[in-house]
Amino acid sequence: MKGAPKITPLETEEIPELNVVDSVDDIEVTDDFSRYSRMTPENNPAEIIEEYEKSAPGYENRMLNKRGYTLPPIIAKIFHKYVKPTEDMKILDAGAGSGLIGQGLNEIGFPQKSIHGLDISSAMLKEAARKQVYEALVTGDLTKIPYANDSFDHSISVMAVGIAPASSLDELARVTKPGGYIATTIRPEILDEYPEFDETMKRLEAEGIWKLIHRHGPIQSYINNLNNTTHYFFVFQKLDEEQKG
Ligand SMILES: C[S@@+](CC[C@H](N)C(=O)[O-])C[C@H]1O[C@@H](n2cnc3c(N)ncnc32)[C@H](O)[C@@H]1O
Repeated sequence: MKGAPKITPLETEEIPELNVVDSVDDIEVTDDFSRYSRMTPENNPAEIIEEYEKSAPGYENRMLNKRGYTLPPIIAKIFHKYVKPTEDMKILDAGAGSGLIGQGLNEIGFPQKSIHGLDISSAMLKEAARKQVYEALVTGDLTKIPYANDSFDHSISVMAVGIAPASSLDELARVTKPGGYIATTIRPEILDEYPEFDETMKRLEAEGIWKLIHRHGPIQSYINNLNNTTHYFFVFQKLDEEQKG
């Protein structure tokens, strides 16, 4: 274990109200963690695909009704502070899973045609397709995002960076247009145990690719506080030529 990572100190803001479930009384608190997995950057793509193939069918029931997953509305509200919905925008939801973040964005005003989902697990994307909140769903690896440079106005990734290795941050920066926002969660333990995540964030800033503009959290990820899971939420802005000076 390395020491605590050095993170640029930034103002964190008040956590918005949750609206997935109102209190722990509304969820079935369970100690059945049988399908609780903790994937790390050490898992290879085949292991990730296999894990999510198995967990996809009951994913949302477990996340929302048993664990009280808190992040989608919180993340959507913070993202909305920086990115206002427009009709012709393109947002990448990277590691879209069953579509909870796409749904959160859609509910807060981002049009379906603006939201594009990417995930390594086609089983998870099959769940996401049912929601009809995505313009497109594409199977692909966050470390080799199958889109050209500057393809999206903004990118967002929730609970996927940190399963995907640190090079996923380079990829999110690459496919986002200059001036766009790149928002990602990451678990504090991952930052602590895998210094390459913090190093990559700082390298991209030192290279003038992006600038950290917001760090939120750690946010409790489940109302029933499953395994004390928390996430930081980072928002970066990809610099355009003028900002680079
Ligand atoms: C815990 S789920 C989160 C899904 C969704 N973002 C949410 O908040 O509910 C993690 C997702 O990341 C995807 N994932 C993990 N590693 C990935 C990679 N290298 N490339 C693309 N997707 C990946 C998994 O397949 C899974 O659907």
